[in-house]
This record gives sequence, C-alpha cells and structure tokens, in this order.
Amino acid sequence: MENKGLPVSLVSKELESKLSGDFTYGSGRIIGSMCTRSHPFAREAFTRFLDVNLGDSGLFPAVVELEKETISMLGTLLSNPNASGHIVTGGTEANTLALWTAKKLSKKKDCEVIVPASAHYSLDKAADLLGLKLVRIKLNSRYQVNVEAVEEAVNLNTVAIVGIAGTTGLGVVDPISKLSEIAIRKNLYLHVDAAFGGFVLPFLKELGSRVPDFDFSLPGVCSITIDPHKMGLAPIPAGGILFRSRNLKKTVAWNISYLAGGKTEQATLVGTRSGASAIAIWALLKHLGKEGYKKIVRRCMRLTWKLAEEIQKINGLHIVTEPTMNIVGIKSDVFDICRITQELRVRKWAVSLFPNHIRIVIMPHVQEQHIESFLEDLKDIINKLGA
Ligand SMILES: Cc1ncc(COP(=O)(O)O)c(C=O)c1O
Repeated sequence: MENKGLPVSLVSKELESKLSGDFTYGSGRIIGSMCTRSHPFAREAFTRFLDVNLGDSGLFPAVVELEKETISMLGTLLSNPNASGHIVTGGTEANTLALWTAKKLSKKKDCEVIVPASAHYSLDKAADLLGLKLVRIKLNSRYQVNVEAVEEAVNLNTVAIVGIAGTTGLGVVDPISKLSEIAIRKNLYLHVDAAFGGFVLPFLKELGSRVPDFDFSLPGVCSITIDPHKMGLAPIPAGGILFRSRNLKKTVAWNISYLAGGKTEQATLVGTRSGASAIAIWALLKHLGKEGYKKIVRRCMRLTWKLAEEIQKINGLHIVTEPTMNIVGIKSDVFDICRITQELRVRKWAVSLFPNHIRIVIMPHVQEQHIESFLEDLKDIINKLGA
C-alpha cells in the first residue's frame, strides 16, 4: 500500500492498463463459460444499492421483502410460488446449503449422498466440508444418471439424491421424475441442481420444446439450485437456493442476536451478504419478464443448433450428443481434443475442456459472427492437424 494515496485518475489509469489483457465478453472470444455480460438495467440497479447488507436484515426490511418476492418469482418459474429460499453467491453455495439441509434433517451419523457422475465440483466441495460421502453413479448412453444404479446405491446411510437439470459438461437433464419416485419411496431428500438449466428449461418449454419435468411439479423435489448469474443475466454474484417450504429453509437457520438491526435469522453460509444481488435480480425479472427471457433463449438455441450442425460437417469431429440447451460438446475419434483446445487457446478462444470433449456454451453475448469466425479457426486447426 502507498504511504500517501494517489489521485483517482492515476489509479484508474493503472487499473485499466493492468486489466487490459483480460478476456471480455464483448469480444465474443469467451465461448466456454456459463457467465455472460450482465444486463445493463440489472447492473444499474446493482450499483445503486451496493452497500445493502442482507445479513443484517433489520436494517433493510424493504430489501428483505424484495428478496422474498424474487424467490417467489423464481419459485413460480419452477412450479412453486410458495417456495422459500435465498439469493446466494452462486451454485456452489446453493448446492452446499441443500446438502447441509439434507444432512441436518436426516440426523444420521455416516451420511452418503448419491450424485450423477456428471455432478459439478461444488458437490464435492460441499461433501468435503460437511463430512458426507459422495456416491457417484454412472451415466446411461444419453449422459443422464442411470436410474437403476441410483436405486441400487441407496443404503441405510443415504440421506439425499441429487439430480441435475442442465449438466455442466453437456447441458443434459437427468430423469428427475424417476429420481423423485425413488426419493419418495425411500423417504430421501431430493435436490435438483438447475444452476444452469433453471433459467433455460422453463423458457424452452414455453417455446414449444419437449422439456421433461424437473422442478417442484415433481412431489419428491425438496430443493432447487437456480443461478441468476448464468442464463439469468444478473451481475455476479447471484445464485439461488429454493426450498419447497419455509420449514425446510429453516433447517440451517441461525439466530443472530448482536446486529445493529436487531435480532435476525440467517440461513445462508455467509453472514454479510449482498442486497444488491437480490435487488438486481428482482428488477431484471420484472423488466425482462417471460417474453424477454424467451427471446434470449430462442436466440441462443438458434446459434447452438447452427454450431452443432456445422461441427458435424467437419471431418473427424462430432457433437457428443444432440444439444438440449445452449451447450455443445465437441469430440473426436481421430484428433486429440487437448491438442485442438491448445490450438484454439493460442488463437485466443476461451473454450472449456472436459475429459472427453470440448464444451462450447452459447451465452447471450455470443453473436453469429463469433461462431462463424470460431468455425473458420477450428477448420483451419483440423486441416493442419490432419496434414
Ligand atoms: C450444474 C452446476 N452446478 C453448480 C455450479 C457452480 O456454480 P458457481 O460457479 O456459481 O458456484 C455450476 C457451475 O458451472 C454448474 O454448472
């Protein structure tokens, strides 16, 4: 730290120069991330209320009400306007809160949680923190969790099952209705990780696509993760944890007595937390409405299908599976995908590498010309590798 502070203009200039080499969404080069440039209106709302601390809720009762309305709007999207929950820092915190709730409710000593092999790392982190054993279940030929194997894995220590509505790698939706049946039959907690899919599937359904049931319409579903900072276009950080009922939400609530706003209840991992996130999401949901999100999803899907179609035309490359949402997996039986990724990164394409495929996510900042230019580079790389 400087002894004597520097003028704002000087510090700003230095900041700009230090950060100028980073990727930007506007460049269209980020095609492997689930994040995007936030909506300008959400950004404006966010910056206006940066200092609101929802952890000290007595100071900001109006924002508490806004958060409740936000959760109710998200709950309505997921077939339960009475859902209870919080706007949190992201999918990792939301998934952790769900497993924490399942563990506390069960009162078992050695707890196991059954998750698909495709589960996100956040569930490993949560399991490590909470002292849970994660039991990973193999996938079927459509990259969904194998339901029979889930049922076989249930034992006396099982406390929860997790299903995914939009896997990180491929955007696949697990057979959640089958998982719901198992959860009810075996009296287990069922959490759905719709961190990505939560802001895609409801709109795809309204656009006429066949979307399997994945939300609170299924009676076994206890909680859902839905991330506004992914396809919700909210500024980072913005995750969502929704519980079927208020009682479930209160399982991990703590009474905090010392705060300036008076006694409060906190049911999130963090204490001090952003009210600006909840405000920005509330504002954006109101502003865009279903029609606005449908338009965004329709555009992303149109580009996704175009990309998938073009990939199939390149000799030696294939798509892993038909895209369910705006994620395309690219694989090859001929070329080393690590090598292709390396070459793409040399050409400044920020793609995402999984063990057996390259993941492209067509987020709202990706334009048709970016896809065209990516395909040109990809074809060129394949030509050179094949030569
Ligand atoms: C399905 C799924 N769940 C959870 C997460 C974790 O979300 P975050 O990075 O916001 O913590 C991700 C991140 O990509 C994800 O794809």
